[in-house]
Amino acid sequence: MTRIPTPVTRLLGIDLPVVQAGMSWASSCSALPLAVSRAGGLGVVAAGPMRLDDLARVLDETAAGTDSPWAVNLPLYRQGAEDVIELLLSRRPPVVIASQGGPRRYLERFHDVGTRCLHVVAGVEHARKAAEAGVDGLVVVGAEAGGHPPPAMVTTQVLVRAVVSAVPEVPVIASGGIADGAGLAAMLALGAGAAQFGTRFLATEEATVHPDYKAAVLATGVDGTRTVGHGLGVIRAVANDFTARMGRLEESAAELDVRRKEFQSVTLKDAALHGRVRDAKVEAGQSAGLVDSVLPAADVVERVVTEYRAALARLPLPVEPAPESEPESPSA
Ligand SMILES: Cc1cc2nc3c(=O)[nH]c(=O)nc-3n(C[C@H](O)[C@H](O)[C@H](O)COP(=O)(O)O)c2cc1C
Repeated sequence: MTRIPTPVTRLLGIDLPVVQAGMSWASSCSALPLAVSRAGGLGVVAAGPMRLDDLARVLDETAAGTDSPWAVNLPLYRQGAEDVIELLLSRRPPVVIASQGGPRRYLERFHDVGTRCLHVVAGVEHARKAAEAGVDGLVVVGAEAGGHPPPAMVTTQVLVRAVVSAVPEVPVIASGGIADGAGLAAMLALGAGAAQFGTRFLATEEATVHPDYKAAVLATGVDGTRTVGHGLGVIRAVANDFTARMGRLEESAAELDVRRKEFQSVTLKDAALHGRVRDAKVEAGQSAGLVDSVLPAADVVERVVTEYRAALARLPLPVEPAPESEPESPSA
């Protein structure tokens, strides 16, 4: 088994700095997280849309399926979040990745049962506060990301650099726009300790989204996504009839209530479960344009390692001192 040791792999006890993003519906199952964790990365169960009994079953399947670390993503805004926290405390997953809220609400309780706590942040101040609260690590999400990019739309490259400078003692996982080993190398060079891959893992055999959703991701170029729902919990999704309708309302500065009604008229579930890819929320990142095949998740992890090696080999190392330059001759 290959190892790429970083502060994040040491913190989490994994071999590779490859994190499969928690994605509602797509990783609300055990198959995808298990495949990634067995391959040496960190698989993440997305608890967001799951009923408690389904989540309990998936947690038990995942725990039984591997001795390697795995994680649960917990959006703190979800209905019944407190019941989910209680369920997780009873199951003691190795890692919890919380998003959309503050860490003080859950941190001590998870630390008491030995669970590592990562917190998803969308800005530098947010990162500082989470670090002060005592999280074990941060997931820093930039504007390229599928799902929920940061409202201020700062790119992953800039935000990761800003966060590692602001809280250098905290291990950071970079997320948003990373689809291959070159992206991983770039994020480690910026000071992150791992990269989180969302859209790349949507196009895997194990991701539990409709085949038409996967086909839509493959058909999307780097400029084929849109951000819509500004001020309402902005999402990045594949451009389609729904994003066009939202875009028109936003351009014409329609009332918030009108925009909210349209925004809530369709869901991610409509696309992910029922394959309504023309007029529902086909959430995916700009990196959809870098993804051209549906693969087994373990192959994605293996490819990332191969591409990472190739990326390192392309770097012009070592950095050599420049030869002494000839003094410039005065012009005639
Ligand atoms: C279909 C989809 C569903 C997502 N669901 C969640 C979620 O439930 N919780 C969460 O914290 N982030 C969610 N995200 C965001 C991802 O965790 C991750 O930050 C993002 O996919 C990274 O960007 P990338 O797609 O460019 O790799 C979702 C993203 C996608 C594409």
